[in-house]
Parts: sequence; C-alpha cells; structure tokens
Amino acid sequence: MDIAVIGLGKLGSPMAACFAAKGHKVIGVDLNEQFVADVNAKKAPVFEPGLQELIEKCDDRLTATTDLHDAVKQCEATFIIVPTPSKADGAFSLDYTKIACQTIGAALKENDRYHLVVLTSTVMPGDTGVHIRKALEDASGKTCGKDFGLCYSPEFISLGSVINDYLRPDFTLVGQSDEKAGKILEDFYGTICENDPPVARMNFVNAELTKLSLNAYVTMKISYANTLAEICEKLDGGNIDDVTNAIGLDSRIGRKYLKGATGYAGPCFPRDCEAVAQLGRTLNVETRLPIATDQVNKLQIPRMLNLIDQALPQGGTVGILGLAYKPDTDVIERSQGVELAEALLDRGTTVVAYDPAAMENAQEKTKGALQLAASADDCLSQVDLLVITTPINEYKELSLKNIQGKTIVDCWRILDRSQLEPLCNYVGVGTDDVLRVQQDAENLSAKAA
Ligand SMILES: NC(=O)c1ccc[n+]([C@@H]2O[C@H](COP(=O)([O-])OP(=O)(O)OC[C@H]3O[C@@H](n4cnc5c(N)ncnc54)[C@H](O)[C@@H]3O)[C@@H](O)[C@H]2O)c1
Repeated sequence: MDIAVIGLGKLGSPMAACFAAKGHKVIGVDLNEQFVADVNAKKAPVFEPGLQELIEKCDDRLTATTDLHDAVKQCEATFIIVPTPSKADGAFSLDYTKIACQTIGAALKENDRYHLVVLTSTVMPGDTGVHIRKALEDASGKTCGKDFGLCYSPEFISLGSVINDYLRPDFTLVGQSDEKAGKILEDFYGTICENDPPVARMNFVNAELTKLSLNAYVTMKISYANTLAEICEKLDGGNIDDVTNAIGLDSRIGRKYLKGATGYAGPCFPRDCEAVAQLGRTLNVETRLPIATDQVNKLQIPRMLNLIDQALPQGGTVGILGLAYKPDTDVIERSQGVELAEALLDRGTTVVAYDPAAMENAQEKTKGALQLAASADDCLSQVDLLVITTPINEYKELSLKNIQGKTIVDCWRILDRSQLEPLCNYVGVGTDDVLRVQQDAENLSAKAA
C-alpha cells in the first residue's frame, strides 16, 4: 500500500519506519524541516531504541516531505499522528489535526480514487465522528463512508519500546466509519503485526473511549500500588514487593504496572487519566476513580520529599539517578526525577543528577540549575543521599567503594539490598526501611532537644 504518515514525531517516525520495513511505500510528512531532512538522510529524527536501524533497513520505501497535499495525492491511505495537546480543562485540542485535515481534504478533492484516512492521535470521544469527519468532508466536498473511509486507530505503545509495541501489540483497535474502511485497516495491520493480534472493531466513540479508559485503568493500578507501598512503609516488616508479587498472581489482577514505586508520568498516562475525569464532567457522570488516581499521583513527590527531609544531613547534597520519565527515552514530561529535582532546588538544596539520555532536556527545563554528573558512579561520589527514580540497568552497577556511609533511596528496589545494607543506609521505597528512617529522625531530634 502507498501510505502517507502525517507527523514524524515520537510516534509518527517509528510508525512510518515500521510500515516501510514491512514493504509498504511510505511518505512521511512533517512541518519540521529538520525531521524531514533527517528521514531523507536515513537518520532517526527522534530518540527511540531501534529506530535508526529500522530506518536504515527501509531502503527507498521511506521518504519524507513537508508537502502534505502532494503526499496525500500520491497515496491510498493517510495516517494522522500530529499532537493533540491537553487544554486547561483536561480535554484535547484538535487544532493541529484540523489543520492537517483541511489539507488532506483539499487533496482528496483532486483524487478520483477511494482513500482511507486513519486518525492515530489521541482525541476525545465524539471528536472523530463529528469534527474530524466534518473537516475532511468540508475540505473535500466528498462523503465519508462512500468516497473515502475514516478510522480512529490509536496505538498502545510505550516510549522506549515503540517499535516492538507496533509490531507485536496485545491487540489493535479500529474505530470505523463503515465496514469497508475498517476491513481495509484490519487487513493492513495483518501485513504489519508479527503476532496476529486480535482486532477490536467498533464505532468511533467506543474506540475513543477504549483508548482513554485503557490508560486511565493502568494509572489507577499504579496509584493503587503506590498507596499500598505507603501503607507498607508504616508497617513494621512491611514490604510492597511481597504484597504486589502475590496479588499480581491472581489472574483478575496481573503483575504489570503493580510495582509501588514512583508516580506515573510521561506524555500519555497523566493526561489520558485527566481526560476521562473531564469527559465525566461534561457528561455529568461522577468519575471519582480517575480523579482519585490523579490525586494519589500528585502525593508521590511530597512523599519523597518527606523521606529526604528525614534522611538528608543538614545542608546535604541530593543525587538523582533518572531524569527521563522512564528508561530508554529522553522524554521528561512530568518526569518524577525532574519534578523532585525542581522541588529540591526550590528549597535551596544542591542537586547532582545523571541520566543516560535525558540530561540535556532536564537541564533546559531546570534552566541550568542541576549539576550534571558524568555517570551514575560520578553522581554517587558527589552526594550524601541518592534517589534512584527509574529502573535503569546501568544504575545497578554502582561502585560499592563510593557508597560507604551514604543514604540510597531505591524507588524501584533494583539494587541488591543484602550487598548494600552493611555499607550504607539502604532505603527501599515501599518497605519498612522508611519507618526506620522516620524513627531515626525522631530519635535524633529528641536527643537534640
Ligand atoms: N508519545 C507517546 O507516548 C504517545 C502514546 C500514545 C499516543 N500518543 C498520541 O500521539 C499523538 C502524537 O504524539 P507524539 O508524541 O508523536 O507527538 P510529537 O510532538 O512527538 O510529534 C508530532 C509531530 O507532528 C508534526 N506536525 C504537527 N502538525 C503537523 C501538520 N499539520 N503537518 C505535518 N506535521 C505536523 C510536528 O511537527 C511533530 O513533529 C498525540 O495525539 C499523542 O497523544 C502519543
């Protein structure tokens, strides 16, 4: 199939590369001339593991342009993956998608053959069937479901594993204007996915709600585990891993995203959860679960600050390992590491930080206020207390010679407790280590009084 992919950002460029790698002819389109030049030079325009190698394998099947109109005219299907930023009320803006649809519609007007438009950007329930359909019909003068097909098909990907998630998804979701459009997209996914995943086909509103509700459910699980972790921290003998590993064995629950560590972050989870709450407000439905999920998430940085207050010596320096919102990405949107750093810097605490991919982005966000370390070990050597905010393998290699007498706050419990305990003050988040820190701090202040 000849395909145009509109938007060559964090999702669009891996998507375009996956389609081209599977034998389709793909024209990527972006307003960003650098991204276009990168793709044409066979360079990955964004940081994503495996993307560079995949682009190199695409031969001349993957090209890029800034000319959306021309790209659509040359193709049989157009995938839209442009930003839909959150508005102040939590709903998503259609500004970028509508602009793209006007040009796509104008190109469809000049095309005699049937064309399939697939919206992949996250939108609110009701948007595809009303606003996107109207924008395309108005600009093309054609009828959706007859002259062209429209699908809403968001992807359930995680930055850092986007390529694998595209090629081997748990399922694909297709919201369709009509049977023909849905069938074409389902068949197309059959040429892309390597694991023959189930396809959930439905109308637009249900597909739009499915996308939001899936992410909102996952965030609810994360906040639930974080609440249990805080309870474990107050119980003598408490250990969140024992609890979640056990309840995760129940097939009604499952282990994924049930860790009890930091809050959730990134470009999707927080805003999809907020969007479900906003949807409830507009429909007059009491959406208490996503609201509570978000509230619990916002408690996680204060919880960490409280722990640091109790364990950090007066005037001490804090180290943060992990500035990206998760491993294998340079994205820092709502990152717990960066939010923690900002809160500490606001109080006048010196913060030394390290991350294998996100230091430049974090330094820009904090306006140069962070002291950057050259490695995890270098970070540890400069601080009194070290917080590990993301479970990156590299952090497991900390040199024990630098660790003597320091406090290590291990949010994901990735280090070997038995090895560290004799050498330093090891604090596994979600365990009664936190209770011990609290008791030590109380004893110290009682002595001082
Ligand atoms: N990043 C994620 O983890 C993730 C996950 C699931 C869904 N999504 C959704 O995917 C969509 C895109 O996200 P992203 O992270 O790839 O965004 P991004 O900001 O990384 O990339 C979007 C790209 O679209 C380009 N663009 C904007 N308007 C354009 C136009 N009219 N014509 C051509 N190009 C245009 C921008 O220049 C940019 O390069 C959003 O709706 C987002 O919610 C993102």
